[in-house]
Amino acid sequence: MIKILYIGDICGRPGREAVASVLPELRKKEKPDIVVADVENLAHGRGATVKTVREVMSYGIDFMTAGNHIWRRPDYEELLSGEFPIIRAANYPEDIPGKGFDIVDLGRKGRVMFMMVQGRQLMNDSVTTDMLRPIEKILENSRDDNLEGIVLEIHAETTSEKVATALYFDGKLSAVVGTHTHVPTADERILPNGSAFISDIGMVGPMNSSLWVKAEIVQQQLRYPFAPSYDIEEDGERRFDAVLLEIDSRDSCTSIKRINKVL
Ligand SMILES: [Fe+2]
Ligand SMILES: [Fe+2]
Repeated sequence: MIKILYIGDICGRPGREAVASVLPELRKKEKPDIVVADVENLAHGRGATVKTVREVMSYGIDFMTAGNHIWRRPDYEELLSGEFPIIRAANYPEDIPGKGFDIVDLGRKGRVMFMMVQGRQLMNDSVTTDMLRPIEKILENSRDDNLEGIVLEIHAETTSEKVATALYFDGKLSAVVGTHTHVPTADERILPNGSAFISDIGMVGPMNSSLWVKAEIVQQQLRYPFAPSYDIEEDGERRFDAVLLEIDSRDSCTSIKRINKVL
């Protein structure tokens, strides 16, 4: 049995502080074999830096994924060079830095593969290809790998893409988890063929913000064509959203449990 704590998009300093205050105790209580988080919003909401990645690793994040915002800062080059345990979406062309999957060795618990894809609806990214073929190819190539677990993150705006993709791969991998909307969904379940699924894990960041942006800025953008640009909400409550996966094989999962905390 492999226990994975999978955390939603960590947003800026409020998110990093929330990880620092929640994760050590959560690690002690749940004893996950590995802690994973999406870090696309780690540095002031936009992308990640080497410094902020090192910071959250020091709090207990073991493995990371990079969504569509990772390209916003030049650090992506170093972060995706192979020096850090970070993957990006697998449905980018081959000449884009980084890789779409990685295998982590958990010692006596075995090896687990993490994969990521990015949705195509409302994502404003014309570079990604379809989601299904790259994942099929990775699964096909890993057939003879000795894997105890396979987890796919779908970084996408629409739940329709997430649900359809999860059902497509149901029974072919351990779990499919969604990210990117920063809003947790309550549809976590084990699918008919044994894979776990949730449409969106949520985020770690400022609670009363528009995803992470100060609400008044987005409100001005809704009202005026000359509104200021995005800035992160540093004040008020923070939320910490994650899921706990208990994986029993490379193509099934025994449980998926939501963790939604307000700090
Ligand atoms: Fe995000
Ligand atoms: Fe995103």
